Amino acid sequence: MKKQLKDFMEQIGRDAIAIIPAAHEQTRSYDTEFKFHQDPDFYYLTGFPEPDAVAVIAPGHKKHPYTLFVRPRDPLMETWYGRRQGVDGAKKNYGADKAVSIEKFAAELPKLLNGHEKLYYRFGVDNKLDLLILQYLSEQRFRRLKTAYPPHTIIDPTLILGEMRLHKTPEEVELMQRAADIAAEAHILAMRKTEPGMNESQIEALIEHYFRMSGASGVAYNSIIGGGDNATILHYVENNAPLRDGDLLLIDAGCEYEGYASDITRTFPVNGRFTKPQREVYDVVLDVQLECVAATKKGNTVKQRQELSIELLTEGMKKLGLLKGKTKELIKKKEFMKYYMHGVGHYLGLDVHDAGRYFTEQQAKNSRPFAPGMVLTVEPGLYIPPDDKDAPAKYRGIGIRIEDDVLVTEDGNVNLTAKVPKDADAIEEIMNTGRE
Ligand code: GLY
Ligand code: MN
Ligand code: MN
Repeated sequence: MKKQLKDFMEQIGRDAIAIIPAAHEQTRSYDTEFKFHQDPDFYYLTGFPEPDAVAVIAPGHKKHPYTLFVRPRDPLMETWYGRRQGVDGAKKNYGADKAVSIEKFAAELPKLLNGHEKLYYRFGVDNKLDLLILQYLSEQRFRRLKTAYPPHTIIDPTLILGEMRLHKTPEEVELMQRAADIAAEAHILAMRKTEPGMNESQIEALIEHYFRMSGASGVAYNSIIGGGDNATILHYVENNAPLRDGDLLLIDAGCEYEGYASDITRTFPVNGRFTKPQREVYDVVLDVQLECVAATKKGNTVKQRQELSIELLTEGMKKLGLLKGKTKELIKKKEFMKYYMHGVGHYLGLDVHDAGRYFTEQQAKNSRPFAPGMVLTVEPGLYIPPDDKDAPAKYRGIGIRIEDDVLVTEDGNVNLTAKVPKDADAIEEIMNTGRE
């Protein structure tokens, strides 16, 4: 049994039962599916990699506190769609106290729930399972508590799981460091290989090839490979335009390793040399990024760091001539949002935008202080639309973001992605060494 599952059991208590479903395959076209991605909460607790399973967790159960319902072994289905662990594998390889075919789940549900005070279940994600549970609850209402003792409190486990997932164990940090290293090396490779005349798609292929060759299961999110003014589109994923001499290239790409995500952005010149205006904007973003990395430390809050990024970038926009006026006013009127319109970072873990509350109390959005074990991205940017008549002409169409993954520690932080250069000189050096 995973340590995470033991901790979860302790938190929900002996009178509770939790039902945590795996993900299902998603249709891509007719009878073919997207590559399967396990539900991160389910994966966190069980490590079980297959679709259509359900974990039933009942800490007070004498014989089997942890039951896995799984797809049964089936030679014909396995010939068509791949191997299955089956009930034996679920017990032997994943530590379930008991394993049952998922085909029996609906019939077993009333027996499972009977006698528990609380049910931990998240409605609104798995519609079929929602219906089964609702059906059970309405049957119980009908019977008026004469023949069974159904749970009377239903609790969404998102909060408990989010808090657990937010604070990474040393083992998780090790996996995240590996995810970070693979992505960092792929970004360095892209810097070395990019040249005018290539296509964004080729850089995407180069990076994702490196991910898979290095043991990552694939991307942690769709890669963003934006040359020229494509970099001003925050979630640009077409990745199919030619890379032009004199343009910048923004790459936001991270891999998934053993379920854990990395998330890195670098922006560099296609031909290996920043122009003066490009470098002016770049250095503004870099300075802010360095300050925000430093501010990602114990005690500071998400809100403070966001406000710091806004203040420093607004100052930077004034310096570049993008905005004019008093910094305070520009912030109050949200003028900065014309060029900086996203958050400075997010939690990172099994999900790229990871679980965990950003609040300490209701209405106090982003008030939460950073604590050791949290991993956050730091990703300020400036995006100057190509048709922005208010911006100096030399800056139009420039989009820059710089993003690292940072682990908060007792006495500061560790930048997990520090090995990809981000200083403009260091980028130029790496792009111009051993090339000709
Ligand atoms: N790549 C997604 C993000 O940076 O949040
Ligand atoms: Mn990113
Ligand atoms: Mn990010």
